[in-house]
Amino acid sequence: MPASLAIAFVVGTRPNFPKVAPMLAALRDHPSVRPILVHTGQHYDAELSAMFFEDLGISQPDWMLGVGSGSHAGQTAKVMVEFERRCLEDRPDAIVVVGDVNSTVACALVGSKLLIPVVHVEAGLRSRDRTMPEEINRLVTDVLSDRLYTHCSEAVDNLEAEGIPRGRICAVGNVMIDSLLRVRSKATVPPSLPAELLPARGFGMVTLHRPALVDQVQRMRPMLDALAEISTDLPLFYPVHPRAMAKMAEFGLISTDNEDDGLVRYAGSQLRLCRPIRYQEFLWLLDNSRLVITDSGGIQEETTALGVPCLTVRENTERAVTIDQGTNELIGLDPDDLKAAVRRVLSSAMPTHERIPPQWDGHAGARIIADLLPWLESRA
Ligand code: UD1
Repeated sequence: MPASLAIAFVVGTRPNFPKVAPMLAALRDHPSVRPILVHTGQHYDAELSAMFFEDLGISQPDWMLGVGSGSHAGQTAKVMVEFERRCLEDRPDAIVVVGDVNSTVACALVGSKLLIPVVHVEAGLRSRDRTMPEEINRLVTDVLSDRLYTHCSEAVDNLEAEGIPRGRICAVGNVMIDSLLRVRSKATVPPSLPAELLPARGFGMVTLHRPALVDQVQRMRPMLDALAEISTDLPLFYPVHPRAMAKMAEFGLISTDNEDDGLVRYAGSQLRLCRPIRYQEFLWLLDNSRLVITDSGGIQEETTALGVPCLTVRENTERAVTIDQGTNELIGLDPDDLKAAVRRVLSSAMPTHERIPPQWDGHAGARIIADLLPWLESRA
């Protein structure tokens, strides 16, 4: 192994951080490798970024690209320009990108044009819905990647069906679950959680932030009304992404005037909205919820690992494995379907932990490093 082997690990948004942490941890056993942690700055609010670094024990980024928000093209282009500039100054031997956000595809494009090997972690997921920007990012990133790490058998099938050679694909398991299992024991109660919600399983959790829902008042208002109705049977706690919070305020759905200790109660109901919360508090909530209502990608997996029922408010999912082998149910965007699904969950027993996909066992990061280093060496 060349002494100077340098590997860039790219993060941009909140869901990326728990995915790189296990690989960085595994590299501590390989002092000859120099990890370069690259933060594109796609997410910049402390609750979406800095606090996650702290909770995951990740050191400060080596390269801060500071791109911030923008249109999809503007944001992707800014990441590309800044990342290319840094790669030309201090050329890494490989670039590892994770997930499916704009930063992922931007850095994969830069790497492939500079002829630096591109490695994609969480490859092969497909919703088959090209109206989702993440689906475009997945397709492009996978086609450009030289090594593709997958976390479920369906992802391998998807890649092979698209003509990606089997030899480039390596099944390793789920890095995000590595982080979840490690930080779970340190999970802490969010200080903003009202005392009456403290008993485990006495509340449900909501995370809804996708533009398909939150950008349209005619969709968001009935959804919040449905959640308020559900909250009479099961109080709900909803940490809100800043863009979703801004949309709700713009549509006049919430007013921060009735904010109480950082919490906004929706229409006087038991649906409580708060600002995003840090990773270890988020895990406590997930772990102790009676059910989770979400449109996120990663949360479908985290609830499966924790054995907590998950209702996904989307028309499709790239994570069918969590339905086939986990606790997830795809509900669609109709609030009446959500209310019916919640009633079903509340009238049934908690699922057992038996159905967890193979290799979601806390060792995916170590498997990646064990494969990646010899693979890079074989190319040298
Ligand atoms: C991104 C990912 C999405 C992921 C989500 C998780 C893409 C295409 N989407 O969506 O897959 O589920 O992160 O959180 O990359 N904003 C802030 N503070 C921040 C960051 C963003 O207020 O720290 C606001 C800004 O108004 C910004 C908007 O959120 O314009 C969108 O941010 P962006 O990072 O482009 O996408 P997300 O919606 O967060």
